[in-house]
Amino acid sequence: MAAETNTKDIKAGKSEEIKTKNTGLRGIKVADTKISDVDGENGVLIYRGYRIEELARYSTFEETAYLLLYDMLPSVEQLKEFSRGLAESRRLPGFVLDSMKQIPRRSLPMDVLQAAIPLLAMADPVLTAETRDANLAMAVRLIARVAAVVAAWQRIREGLEPLPSDDALSHAGDFLWQLSGAKPDPETAKDLDTALVLHADHSFNASTFACREVVSTQAHMYAGVAAGVGALSGSLHGGANEQVMKMLLSLQGEKDIAGWVRHQLDSGRKIMGMGHAVYKTIDPRASFLKEMGRRLGVKLGQEQWHRMLTQIEETAVSELAKRGKTTIKPNVDFYSAPVYHLMGIPHDLMTSVFAVARIAGWTAHIIEEKFGDAQQKPALYRPSSEYIGNYCGRSGCVYTPVRERK
Ligand SMILES: CC(C)(COP(=O)(O)OP(=O)(O)OC[C@H]1O[C@@H](n2cnc3c(N)ncnc32)[C@H](O)[C@@H]1OP(=O)(O)O)[C@@H](O)C(=O)NCCC(=O)NCCS
Repeated sequence: MAAETNTKDIKAGKSEEIKTKNTGLRGIKVADTKISDVDGENGVLIYRGYRIEELARYSTFEETAYLLLYDMLPSVEQLKEFSRGLAESRRLPGFVLDSMKQIPRRSLPMDVLQAAIPLLAMADPVLTAETRDANLAMAVRLIARVAAVVAAWQRIREGLEPLPSDDALSHAGDFLWQLSGAKPDPETAKDLDTALVLHADHSFNASTFACREVVSTQAHMYAGVAAGVGALSGSLHGGANEQVMKMLLSLQGEKDIAGWVRHQLDSGRKIMGMGHAVYKTIDPRASFLKEMGRRLGVKLGQEQWHRMLTQIEETAVSELAKRGKTTIKPNVDFYSAPVYHLMGIPHDLMTSVFAVARIAGWTAHIIEEKFGDAQQKPALYRPSSEYIGNYCGRSGCVYTPVRERK
C-alpha cells in the first residue's frame, strides 16, 4: 500500500517530502576544500585565496595551475620547471594517437576526450603509485595532454596529421597552434590564456564533484578525470557554451531579439548561458569574458555577437525580474561562446576547451581528496536515499517464475 501511495504522490507532484530531497545537493556542504571558493551572493571567486580578477589580469594559466596544485604561487624557477614539465608532456603516446585515428570522425569531441583519458592512463608510468609526487606528476601530464588530445582530434577528424607541439609557445598558444596549424598572434594567445585562467576551477561544481566522488573510492586520477569529462559534457554544465553559440547563429538576422527572449520565457524555455546554481548576481568570469568578446569583435569586425548577447541579457534580466526571478544573470558560458568563436575554435569543440582549462582544477581536487589535505580523513562518498519503490514488507514480494507470469 505504501508504494502505491508514494507513486501516486510523485505523479501528482504532491509529496513535499519527495520534492525537497531532489534538490541536487544545493546548499549542502559535503566536504571542506582549500582550493577555491565561490561567494554566490557577492559574485566573488577565489583560487587559493586570490581573487579571480587579479589572476585573470596578472597571472598565466601555467602559474594558476601551479597555484591550484601546490597551494602557493611559484618562484621564477619553479614556474620555469613546471612549464618545462608541461611542454615535455604534450607529446601523445603513439598508441593513443593510433587509437584516436580509428574513431569515427563524426564522434562528439567530448566523447573522444573521455575515451582518450583511460588510454592516457595506460601510458602513465606511475599510475598506481599512490604518492603525492606520483599524483602531481600525473596531474602535469594530464594538463598537458588533455589540450593535446583536443587539438589532435580536431586535426584527425579533418583528415590531417596531428602537429608536434612548439615548446617556445605558452600552453594556450601551443594549443591554438596544434589546433589550427597557424602560429597564433600573441594577443589571441594571451586572451585564450586568460580564458583558461577563468575556467580553471570552480569549487564543487558537478564535474569536480564527479572527479572527487570517483577517487574517494581510491580509484586512480585518470578514472576520476574521465568521470569529470562526462559530467562536463552536459548542456547544463560545460555544454552550455556551445548551446549559446547555436542560439546566436539561429538569431542572426532576427530583428526582434527582445520578442524572441520573451517568447522563450513564455514557453518555459531557458536562455542558455544564464542562471547559476551558486551565483545569485553576475558571475565575475562573465564580466571579464564580456569585455574580451567586445574587444575581439571590434578587432575582427564582428561586433554583432556582443550586440546580440547584450540585448538578450538586458531583455532576459528584466523579463525574468517581472516574473519574480531576480537572480538569473549571465554565467561564464554566455560570454565565452563568442570569445571562442572569434578565436576560430569550432563550436562543437567549445566544451572541450572548457576541459582544457578545468583539468587543472580537477587534478588539484583529486589530490586534495586523495590525501585529505582539507580534512583529516577522506572518506568514500556514499549518500543515502529514500526507497519509494515497490514494497511488500521485509519478506519481499512473491516472485513468480517468468513462464508462470501473465
Ligand atoms: C545553471 C542552472 C542549471 C542553475 O540551475 P538552478 O539554480 O538549479 O535553478 P533552476 O534550474 O532550478 O531554476 C530556477 C528557476 O529559474 C529558472 N531559470 C533558471 N535558469 C534559467 C535560464 N537560463 N533561463 C530562464 N529561466 C531560468 C528556471 O526555469 C526555474 O524556474 P521555476 O522556478 O519557475 O521552475 C540553470 O540556471 C540553467 O539551466 N541555466 C542554463 C544552462 C547553463 O547556462 N548552464 C551553465 C551553468 S555554468
